[in-house]
Amino acid sequence: MKKTIFFNWKMNPESKNKAKRLAEVVKEAKKNSNFKVVICPPFVYLENLIKEFKEIEFGAQNCFWEEKGSFTGEISCKMLKSLGVKFVILGHSERKKYFKETNKEIAKKMISVIENKLTPILCVGETLKERKKGLTKKTLKKQLLDSLKEVFNLKFKNFRLIIAYEPIWAIGVGKTCKVKDALEVICYLKKILLDFFPSSSLLFLYGGSINSKNISLFLKEKEIDGVLVGRASLKEKEIVLMLS
Ligand code: PGA
Repeated sequence: MKKTIFFNWKMNPESKNKAKRLAEVVKEAKKNSNFKVVICPPFVYLENLIKEFKEIEFGAQNCFWEEKGSFTGEISCKMLKSLGVKFVILGHSERKKYFKETNKEIAKKMISVIENKLTPILCVGETLKERKKGLTKKTLKKQLLDSLKEVFNLKFKNFRLIIAYEPIWAIGVGKTCKVKDALEVICYLKKILLDFFPSSSLLFLYGGSINSKNISLFLKEKEIDGVLVGRASLKEKEIVLMLS
């Protein structure tokens, strides 16, 4: 199966023209690539990009759990679905840090994403302090089980679940986790989830300072199905090199 490179543009770029330009670079680079690409741009760019770039798949960076109603400023999964969005990133550490998002809220969002037949990309990650104290596995297990709490109760199981291991200390700093450490975590998370879901429905990503120099180290590993890329996904040269 082709591995997937997810581009998380976060709150970038600053204009729709720049977003279009970046998507054009992805489109060109993708022609000779062995990888699948999914772009997760800010909400406001989704509609135009989806219409214009049919060969690329798109994801959102967040959603709200209700379908509609008086929730000023929120965006529902139903709305995303109606645009042609396929994926939704949930539980990114920046949402937890800056918007105080909790695992309980993420659990509700997970249900809404799955019920709307979108694929969730659930991010989990530990802080440097937790890693140094030897609390990585304990922390990640709690994040995973709390965020999936409601998903475990779903009667139907015919959905895909993407788990992104994103050590918080490796995000946006230019320093990745060692591949062997990422693998250890991913195998641990997989083992937990295999008690609940068939292996065919699970995909695992690594995210945190991925760039053109280190991407192949992660993608060559059998246990790693793809990567989630932040900063490097905004640089034209990096996009071309990563997809080559
Ligand atoms: P980064 O971001 O590649 O800039 O470290 C990754 C992410 O936050 O998903």
